[in-house]
Amino acid sequence: MKDEGVRLSMVTCYDAWSARLLARSSVDALLVGDSVSMVMHGHPSTVHADLEMMRLHTAAVRRGDPEAFVVADMPFPLHRLGPARAMEAVDVLAKAGATAVKIEGARGHLDTVEHIVESGFPVMGHLGLTPQSVHQLGGYRVQGRDEAAAEQIFEDSQALEAAGCFALVLECVPKALAERISRALRIPTIGIGSGPGCDGQILVLHDMLGMNPGFKPRFLRTFLDGAGAVTGAVDAYAEAVRAGDFPNKRESFL
Ligand code: KIV
Repeated sequence: MKDEGVRLSMVTCYDAWSARLLARSSVDALLVGDSVSMVMHGHPSTVHADLEMMRLHTAAVRRGDPEAFVVADMPFPLHRLGPARAMEAVDVLAKAGATAVKIEGARGHLDTVEHIVESGFPVMGHLGLTPQSVHQLGGYRVQGRDEAAAEQIFEDSQALEAAGCFALVLECVPKALAERISRALRIPTIGIGSGPGCDGQILVLHDMLGMNPGFKPRFLRTFLDGAGAVTGAVDAYAEAVRAGDFPNKRESFL
C-alpha cells in the first residue's frame, strides 16, 4: 500500500463486540493497544496493562473478527527482560490470536525486536510519545521538537527498520519529522498526532467515536457524538420504562 501511495487506517479494538462491528467497516487493521488499561479498566496509565489483560482482550478481538489483521501491544516491561522472556509473551499473544506485536521504543531492546522477527513473528515499532515511558517523559507531550531529540527519533526509526519491523507507529511528533521519517523508511509509518505525512493513521476507537467528551487533544477528530448517542439512547430507554411504554404488547410473550 505504501508503494502504491494508499494510506492505511487503523483503530484500537479491545473486545469482540466492537471487533464484529469493525469487521463491517473498511478499516485496514486493529490494534489491541495497552491503552485498554486506561480506556476499559480505568487505570491512570498504560503501564497497568499486563500480559493476562492483553491476552484476554486479544482473544476477544480475534473471536469477534476471525479475519482481521490484529496487532497486540507488548505490555511493559516484558520486552526489556531479554529475548527469551519477550518470546514467551509473543507466544501467549500469538496463541490468543495476534497477527503481530507492537513494541514501544528501540534503544536497549533492538536485539529482542530482531529475535522476535527472526523467530517468524511480525513486530511493529512505536516511537515519539511512547506512553509506557510517560513518567520519564514528564507527561503526554509532543516529542522530537528540538534537533537532538528529532535526530534520536530519526535514528531509532532507521534502527527499527533494520531490526526487521514491518511498520512503525509515530505518536505525537512534529509533522515535518514524521514526513522525513516516512520518506526515509521503506516500511509504512502509522501516525497518531503526527500529521498527514505518515503512510497511515491510527486513533483510539473510543476517542474518535466521541465516547470520551472531556478528551480533546489537538490531533483528535471525533467522527461521532458517541457519548451523546449512548446517554441519549439509555435515557430514552429509562424514560420508556418509567412511562410504562416499554415493554409494549409486541415486545411481550403471549
Ligand atoms: O495503546 C494504544 O492505543 C496505542 C496507540 C495510541 C498507538 O499504542
